[in-house]
Amino acid sequence: MSPFAVTRTLPEDATGAALRADVLEGLTGSPRTLPPKWFYDAHGSELFERITTLPEYYPTRAEREILLTRSGEIAAASGARTLVELGSGSSEKTRYLIDALTGLRTYVPVDVSESALTRAGQALVAERPGLDVHALIADFTAPLTLPGTPGPRLVAFLGGTIGNLLPAERAAFLASVRGLLTPGDALLLGTDLVKDERVLVRAYDDAAGVTAAFNKNVLTVINRELGADFDPAAFDHVALWDAGQEWIEMRLRSRLAQTVKVPALDLAVDFAAGEELRTEVSAKFRKEGVRAELEAAGLEPARWWTDDAGRFALSLSVV
Ligand code: AVJ
Repeated sequence: MSPFAVTRTLPEDATGAALRADVLEGLTGSPRTLPPKWFYDAHGSELFERITTLPEYYPTRAEREILLTRSGEIAAASGARTLVELGSGSSEKTRYLIDALTGLRTYVPVDVSESALTRAGQALVAERPGLDVHALIADFTAPLTLPGTPGPRLVAFLGGTIGNLLPAERAAFLASVRGLLTPGDALLLGTDLVKDERVLVRAYDDAAGVTAAFNKNVLTVINRELGADFDPAAFDHVALWDAGQEWIEMRLRSRLAQTVKVPALDLAVDFAAGEELRTEVSAKFRKEGVRAELEAAGLEPARWWTDDAGRFALSLSVV
């Protein structure tokens, strides 16, 4: 067997069908919303990589600091022979874990972006001879079947991406991850933490405007995939902190009254001047909240690490 295999668990058009369903539901609802997973075409993934290098966007650096200093402890506590990474993207920070897991045999990156999986997977098998990489093109928010690789397994869900799910979606997601684990397996979960509102808002509204371009890219995706005629310049990027929900919201605010056509859905959407479209929530957590959500899913965080500044946390739940 080749050390690098890619499995598509989605039918070729599953992505198109899911996008049509999401856009129809989101643009006809009130308030209007779009799910954040549609940011990440090749250009959106590139913009996200740039966001992770911005001075204002601290989560990536904070999580990297934890992985750099704690990978040895994480590896010792999990003893994993298989590492499954949900939403693996570029797999950049995962290198620390892969290097620390001395008994690791198989790495299973799971992502909707085939380009990111191929690039990261090929680089890894070249750097680490003896490691099998079995990439899965899959939407990790849908039920997942893992390849039959050796245990124990460590399932990693990094970057704070769990914050992009709404509370009910998080509960369903954690329960389904719990269902993948057998005794000896573990979940490593990255969560961004509640902090000063100004720091949070700046992280999602950077001075260089990269996050604004990332936000508007979802309109370009819908134009290309569904033949829509969104004018990204007719919308303003908005980032705000919802103190009640303890989440950041990204929105696109229509600069004027306009009608947008979406031919693939036979849809015309009227936006009033100032009307907003919610494109992302990014929830921020407290230790007690993470514990409560894990416990509700039948998991228990045995370990909890933060960066020195206490901005971001990794928790490890061993089953
Ligand atoms: C995908 C969770 C890492 O919510 O912080 C970055 C995506 N959105 N800037 C986040 C994102 C705007 C990001 N994560």
